Amino acid sequence: MIKDSPQQYGLISQLFHWVMALYMVKQTVGVLAGYVNEADNFVSHFLHGSHQPTGIIILALVAMRLVWISFQAGQRPPQLGKFGQLARFSHVLLYVLMLLVPISALLLIWGEGKALTIYGVILFDEGASTEWAATVGGFLHTPLSWTLCILMIGHILAGLFHHFVLKDTALIRMLGFKLGA
Ligand code: HEM
Ligand code: HEM
Repeated sequence: MIKDSPQQYGLISQLFHWVMALYMVKQTVGVLAGYVNEADNFVSHFLHGSHQPTGIIILALVAMRLVWISFQAGQRPPQLGKFGQLARFSHVLLYVLMLLVPISALLLIWGEGKALTIYGVILFDEGASTEWAATVGGFLHTPLSWTLCILMIGHILAGLFHHFVLKDTALIRMLGFKLGA
């Protein structure tokens, strides 16, 4: 099933969710690894050296995912239980932060007048610095990133709580199959 239905997230939504979850976890582990591992090797390059491209990929994916969601309106699984409203709010917040975190970084780099090239594609060239953009971007990027990180941990725990404690279908409809016995 490609499209969403009230019973199940469709393949496209599942693919977006799990690919982005991987990128988000990689981004977080990469930043944390930067604190403990100063080494200059393949692992540190893969985890930390790719911070900017990974962030841009996340931004592109979230934009595409929001377009996809707009086509699925009215046929998506409803939120479960008495905490449904809270779940809906936390999902909206995840989307907002997944947009604002990379956008604030773009503001910071552009505002500092630096160039940004991702996998050979020039997103913008060196130029004059723009103080307000550097200040706003620099002020927002790190705190919003850690807020996103905390929300993400809560989200993952909630998903596992639904599956293993409440034993409802929340995880199954995003995973496509039942986890564990
Ligand atoms: C969802 C995507 C992203 C996440 C979760 C994220 C996370 C973070 C975190 C946690 C920090 C703080 C690191 C520290 O305290 O040592 C940071 C710093 C930074 N990130 Fe990101 N980031 C993302 C996207 C991006 C993008 C797209 C770019 C650039 C194109 C970028 C550029 C930077 C820069 C330049 C810093 C240093 C900021 C400063 O010195 O104030 N990030 N990021
Ligand atoms: C790796 C462990 C993860 C698990 C077990 C998990 C579990 C789930 C589940 C069960 C849902 C469906 C909730 C429902 O509709 O009732 C969901 C939705 C969602 N997850 Fe995750 N998730 C994980 C990682 C992540 C990560 C890292 C992110 C990104 C920050 C994320 C972002 C989202 C978003 C935005 C939704 C809402 C989907 C929508 O309705 O459009 N998830 N997740």
